[in-house]
Amino acid sequence: MDAEKFVAESREMIISNLHGKGILACSGGQDSTLLSMIAAPIKNIEIVFVDTGLLRLNEVERVKSLFEKFRIPYKLIDAKKIFLENLKGVTDPETKRKIIGKTFIDVFHQEAVSYGATYLLQGTIAPDWIESGGQSRDTIKSHHNVGGLPENLGFKLIEPLRDLYKDEVREISRYFGLPEVMPFPGPGLAIRIIGEVTEYRLDILKRATDILETSINEKYAGEKPWQYFCVLLSVKSTGVHGDQRTYGETVAIRMIDTLDGMTGTFSRPDWELLSDISVRITDEIPEINRVVYDITDKPPATIEWE
Ligand code: XMP
Repeated sequence: MDAEKFVAESREMIISNLHGKGILACSGGQDSTLLSMIAAPIKNIEIVFVDTGLLRLNEVERVKSLFEKFRIPYKLIDAKKIFLENLKGVTDPETKRKIIGKTFIDVFHQEAVSYGATYLLQGTIAPDWIESGGQSRDTIKSHHNVGGLPENLGFKLIEPLRDLYKDEVREISRYFGLPEVMPFPGPGLAIRIIGEVTEYRLDILKRATDILETSINEKYAGEKPWQYFCVLLSVKSTGVHGDQRTYGETVAIRMIDTLDGMTGTFSRPDWELLSDISVRITDEIPEINRVVYDITDKPPATIEWE
């Protein structure tokens, strides 16, 4: 892939399609940050970063410093309250995705009114629309930046990365010197919480995820897995703490080796590392008394649990 040529062609594509102003939805992930780098020199585009409250611990700070380092101008919108309100009582995964997609659009609409935008630029890549039933396959999941969108979007969409796969996104990101970041889904931690998303459950998952990420970054021997994260399950189980019986939460650890996220195998980490992570999670988060490891490839399982 000729990165320089791709960037030049994408800029031309944006300029020839943008007949007015546009908002660019950037999550701080690899795809939308790459799109922001491509679009940053183009006039009449406002880059918007939405804090959904469904991000990981310290993620807002990480994205802020990334944007500052690469001189990407952006606007931060705090939408934590509205996302949580809209997700109240929702347990079905597809409904969650659709609600999150619609909430994003509502937030963008509000911003569009003040900026005067009629276009939406998104970092949608090939697996997003393929897995959302964009071809003749059954819908596996509605990715928030495709299937989760309401039918009447109210924006004209510009998606310059539509034909890229994850490995190509990484290649072009390297051209800009952008750091490699682990993929993180648009709907965020909401699709890693089985059942209802509440502030309490988000807090538990954020802390467990942070322990997992820190431990892997510090101690993983060899090349790290492509993606690793925690999932908060909806089963509680019996445990013992001191001489007290407990009835606590269960967290699953998922680690995946893959080239592009389309198929993959579960990683085979060192038992000692898994043991350290489990001990830290249960020691530091008393609400959790059981940690399990997911040993399923994709297929038959998807990478995310919802
Ligand atoms: P799955 O779970 O479909 O995940 O095997 C494949 C890759 O896509 C990410 N993913 C998403 N990304 N919106 C996104 O932007 C979504 O709704 C979504 N669902 C999954 C997932 O993290 C993995 O990297």
